[in-house]
Amino acid sequence: MSLRQQSRKTIAGEQSPVAAKLLTWYDRHHRELPWRTGPAALARGERPDPYRVWLSEIMLQQTTVEAVKPYFRVFVERWPDIAALAAADADEIMKAWAGLGYYSRARNLKKCAQIVVSEHSARFPDTIEDLSKLPGVGPYTAAAIAAIAFDRPAAVVDGNVERVISRLDAVETPLPAAKPLIRAAVENLTPSERPGDFAQAMMDLGATICTPKRPSCMICPLNDDCMALSQSDPERFPAREAKAARPQRVGAAFVAVRNDGAVLLRKRVENGLLGGMAEVPGTDWTARRDGQTDAAAAPFLAEWRFSGRIQHVFTHFALDLAVFRADVGDYKAPADYWWAPLDAIHNEALPTVMKKAIEAAIPGITKRRKF
Ligand code: ADE
Repeated sequence: MSLRQQSRKTIAGEQSPVAAKLLTWYDRHHRELPWRTGPAALARGERPDPYRVWLSEIMLQQTTVEAVKPYFRVFVERWPDIAALAAADADEIMKAWAGLGYYSRARNLKKCAQIVVSEHSARFPDTIEDLSKLPGVGPYTAAAIAAIAFDRPAAVVDGNVERVISRLDAVETPLPAAKPLIRAAVENLTPSERPGDFAQAMMDLGATICTPKRPSCMICPLNDDCMALSQSDPERFPAREAKAARPQRVGAAFVAVRNDGAVLLRKRVENGLLGGMAEVPGTDWTARRDGQTDAAAAPFLAEWRFSGRIQHVFTHFALDLAVFRADVGDYKAPADYWWAPLDAIHNEALPTVMKKAIEAAIPGITKRRKF
């Protein structure tokens, strides 16, 4: 623990000045987010519904608040509580999730909801230990739910919080090596009163004031306490190791269009990347230089015409996809394929990479149609 952290240490039961300042700031400046209320606004001190907190935290894993908001609203409107989600059709959940990415999260949603209903009488457990046993709930998410929904004094450390602490304490150790140090600092700062609001206040500060680029230090409630600011260079933190380059893969996608405009789709295998989602037929995505990316790789004979290339970045590789289109009249769908009518294509569980491929083959479709 640094000298500075030592000096911030709370005396048993007492709130540190940093936590007190942050909570005062949060009371005035917190973000209005749909999962922080119920269907109606909450009274002061009332905790949000654990179902909404859990759902939002799953959606917010590796996904921005702005991307999550509309999906969250659709989900709680359609499945307003854990019992409704446990009883939902798995394919309908996948379709509602389409576009949000990291699809294993959607596959775990129903499993988790069923366990909460059958093993916990439809009430979320309220400790980190029990929450961590649920599918899709890792240590971070368990801590966030315990703090936000149940006001447990859990240390909730996401990327925003890492940045705030790195700057507050001018942590020179680069991430990820600095993680244990940062966690210890958060544990040290977390107050026993209002720990849930403290966790959300840290997130909000990181998202709105202590931003990665050009932080708004002038209006930061912690500017008197910030060691990085006192060194005049907050953007230097968090310190980072140089990143390894992302590997590149290539492949081809084939957009078959029927004479009424319908597009031929199939389902990806359940396990693996984008498991269980819909796709247009295509090749494997390979890192080999001689990977097949031409019309000869199509799953059936047609007049395939090259439509362009699309790029998509996944966590572990970047994909360059050659897109081909064929207009196939009233071709019958092969086994395990189906025709998606154009005016209902937005109901398909199409991940973003597939929407890009279809847009390359049918330019303007994503603007002309609900997608
Ligand atoms: N990121 C992860 N969880 C969050 C939350 N509850 N509020 C805002 N941003 C978040």
